[in-house]
Amino acid sequence: MTTLPAIIYNQLFVSLPEPKFDLAGQTAIVTGSNTGLGFEAARHLVRLNAETVILAVRNIEKGEHAKQRIEESTKKEGVVEVWELDLSSYESVKSFVRKCNQNLQRLDCVIGNAAIGPGLYKTFEDNEAALTVNIVSTFLLNTLLLPLCRKTSRLFNVQPRLTFIVSEVHGMARLPERQQPDIFAALNADKSSSGMRRRYGVTKLLGVLLTKELAARMGKPDNQGVIVNCANPGFCVSDLGRDAPAVYRPLMVLLNLILARTTEMGSRAHVFAAAGSAETHGQYMSNGRVEPPSEFVRSKDGMETQHRVYDELLKKLEKINPGISQLVVGK
Ligand SMILES: NC(=O)c1ccc[n+]([C@@H]2O[C@H](COP(=O)([O-])OP(=O)(O)OC[C@H]3O[C@@H](n4cnc5c(N)ncnc54)[C@H](OP(=O)(O)O)[C@@H]3O)[C@@H](O)[C@H]2O)c1
Repeated sequence: MTTLPAIIYNQLFVSLPEPKFDLAGQTAIVTGSNTGLGFEAARHLVRLNAETVILAVRNIEKGEHAKQRIEESTKKEGVVEVWELDLSSYESVKSFVRKCNQNLQRLDCVIGNAAIGPGLYKTFEDNEAALTVNIVSTFLLNTLLLPLCRKTSRLFNVQPRLTFIVSEVHGMARLPERQQPDIFAALNADKSSSGMRRRYGVTKLLGVLLTKELAARMGKPDNQGVIVNCANPGFCVSDLGRDAPAVYRPLMVLLNLILARTTEMGSRAHVFAAAGSAETHGQYMSNGRVEPPSEFVRSKDGMETQHRVYDELLKKLEKINPGISQLVVGK
């Protein structure tokens, strides 16, 4: 449930169990894993015996510091690698994927965790910054990694997972731009401060819709194939609000004190999704299990928006990487 009372209930009374999967032999990528939820998720993956965990970060120095902290706390060396990935640049995403294809024998899970919530309008590439980082680059990355995941599935008889980190605030986001002929263009055109206040939630709503549509277009994974899902970690203490206007800071401190989960607790949601079975394909996960997304996402209007916005995204991805559409349906 994504209503306000349900959110408050989850924050105050629901704890996620500690994940107990065995990921021996597996290779994982976590974007934005030098800090916050991504860092804690990567630390869990190391603890759960993953063979290789790649911290995909935009700042190598911060990544190396995170690697050191993970190694010290898990007492495991030779697992964590730090690779550069800057989601504000499409070329950085493509170069990261080339490195994956050249160096990785297998790829079992990708957690698309990195996100921003800018307070002011700015652009990266052809979009407002949060649209590029949270949506376009994240879907570019995961779609370009599909062939390596499928190869892993065939060679090792496993079902790799692509997990998008979303949020229950997707249930409060409104998307009036769906009435416009081009949703991305309308979102990019809105430079108002009210537009920026709702922008982060809108990207999370788009994340849920696009996950569902990508999963539908890829088809159901049977014994083999790639699983795509999205996960909500709940409201957690982190650096995410760093760009919020100063006037909101006291409120955020208060909410952190009263309601927030620790990042470690929230990151368990990442791990449940990243180790999810075929039943999680195309699903929204919250509290570590499949839950219904917002009423809008489940509505006819939501489903129509889901098809349209995915078509628009695919057009953008085709411009960035011609031929990428073939990867979605490829086996
Ligand atoms: N915290 C919450 O309450 C909450 C609730 C629901 C969902 N989530 C979701 O959980 C995920 C993680 O959030 P968080 O709270 O852990 O946030 P955070 O502490 O702000 O961490 C965000 C991470 O993303 C990275 N990042 C930002 N821009 C990037 C770029 N252009 N390229 C590559 N990496 C980039 C950051 O790197 P730098 O350190 O270099 O900036 C950082 O590692 C996000 O998807 C967020 O929407 C969070």
